[in-house]
Parts: sequence; C-alpha cells; structure tokens
Amino acid sequence: MPSTATKIGNFTFDNCLMNAAGVYCMTKDELAEVEASAAGSFVTKTGTLEPRLGNPEPRYVNVPLGSINSMGLPNNGFNYYLDYVIELQNQPHTKNHFLSVVGLSVDETHKILQTIQDSDYQGLVELNLSCPNVPGKPQIAYDFETTTEILTKVFSYYTKPLGVKLPPYFDIVHFDQAAAVFNQFPLAFVNCVNSIGNGLYVDDEAVVIKPKNGFGGIGGDYIKPTALANVHAFYQRLKPEIKIIGTGGVKTGRDAFEHILCGASMVQIGTALQKEGVQVFERITDELRAIMEEKGYSSLEDFRGKLQYID
Ligand code: DHB
Repeated sequence: MPSTATKIGNFTFDNCLMNAAGVYCMTKDELAEVEASAAGSFVTKTGTLEPRLGNPEPRYVNVPLGSINSMGLPNNGFNYYLDYVIELQNQPHTKNHFLSVVGLSVDETHKILQTIQDSDYQGLVELNLSCPNVPGKPQIAYDFETTTEILTKVFSYYTKPLGVKLPPYFDIVHFDQAAAVFNQFPLAFVNCVNSIGNGLYVDDEAVVIKPKNGFGGIGGDYIKPTALANVHAFYQRLKPEIKIIGTGGVKTGRDAFEHILCGASMVQIGTALQKEGVQVFERITDELRAIMEEKGYSSLEDFRGKLQYID
C-alpha cells in the first residue's frame, strides 16, 4: 500500500494530512478527536497571550463553494494549548504537533515565543502572520519590513523549530520579495495559505456574517488555485531546508495530490473538515492512496514538487 508518511525538519508523521488552524482545534476535546483520527498531526487554534472571546456571531458560514469567516481570534490563551501539547508530548505513542500562536502586538508575540522557548515543549510552532479578522490589525506578512523585524528579533532568542503561516500573495514580485525575506531565517516551514482575506458573500440582499459588515476570510473551493500557486511559488524560491505546508481548497484526494505535486510536504484541511468532521482524514487519505497506487507511486517523494510544465 502506498505510504502518505512525511517529514518536516526532524519530525516524522505517519500521514501528511492534518487540520488547518482555526478548524477543530479550539478545545482539548476537539484536538483529542483529531489526534485519534487518521490525521498525521494537529495544529492548535492560534493562541494569543490572553484568552479572547472573538467577534460577534454569526462569524463562520459555509457557502456552496467554501466558507467565509471572521472569527476574530477566539481562543483559550496560548498557555492552554502549550500545556496540552506538552501533556501529549510526554505520552508514549503520541503524534508530533504544531502549536499556533501570535500576539496582538509585536511585544506580545515575543512574550509568547519567549515563554515557549523557556518551556518543556520540543515540538513545532506555527507563528501566524496572516490573521485577516482582527479589526485594526493588518495581516503582518503583507508588510515585509515588519515581518523581517519580527523574525530577526525572534531568531535572536528562539532556537526551537518554528514556521510561519502566510496569507496568499497575488503578484510574482511579491513572491520574490517574500521568499527573499524568509530565506534569511532558519525557518522549519512556511504554511501557504491562510484564507483569502476580506471577501464578501452576499445572500439575497444581505451579508452572511456579522463582524466587519460581512467582510471575512474565504476558504474552500474558491481558494485552491491561489493556494497551489503560493505552494509552488515558494517551493521554487525557498531554500530546501524550509518545507512547505499546503493549505487551501482540499476536499478530495486529488486536491491533496495537487498540493504535494506543487511542493507541499504536509497538507492541511480547513473548510472540508468543518463541513465533514474528522472522518474527512480517512476518506481523503484513501483517495490519495488510490491515486498514488494507480500512478505507481509508493511514497510522497515519488511526486512531490514534480509539477510538469509545458515546454
Ligand atoms: C482568525 C482567522 C484567521 O485566518 C487566522 O489566521 C487567525 C485567526 C480568526 O478570525 O480567528
């Protein structure tokens, strides 16, 4: 049977599929369900320094081709998630995990990362540079100067494996500039992409979510071509030590296959997991394996990054 096992840095995973941050990861109960499923890992809801209630509801709505959300970073505070991944790390047959964090200010981000640096946690951290939904707080990774400043300071004290969650970029020059920034740092991975920020879904004559008069992050079918473009653009540009996590529009084995073909080492599922629940991991793994079998591939290395161009 083909293997869907993968690696990020020194961390191994029996399966390349996992949840995307924000979906099925707010509480320990939800995280435990992902842990017990066919997923190869989980990432926690992005944790801030203090717990947050987030934006008023309705704030996440499924629509025919995907989803729109403006959650506003509701979470139990990063310490809640840090305690849980440390608890699991000390158990015998645990998976490797991703702890997602960001501060509401640069200072907060450093406080959080200093705490993780000083903790017993030895796993991966995903620094979220791309939340589109907190009023007055722009997506950090669209500002290359601020991003460079933050990462420069982070790597002056942070020595554990760290990656960044990125928003989608839409211009070749921005791919070049962003990759030049990330190549300066010892990142374990970049995760492409967060939701396409600040879309607007209209139903009859009205918006469907309450915060920001209906503007919200778009996920699902709408975003797969943008996600694949970002995965492949960074696969082409980043030094090989920086692995790519592919996120966006994955609801079938074929979608996961395309992310890997474009260069992804791990593939995250958001909107489809929200719609279908944790059984999605087994279904998509089976579908991905069937495609690999038909093509004669026994491991992800057989086709990762091997997207074919037209001469
Ligand atoms: C939220 C949404 C995001 O896309 C993200 O990266 C972080 C947080 C949110 O609204 O909670």
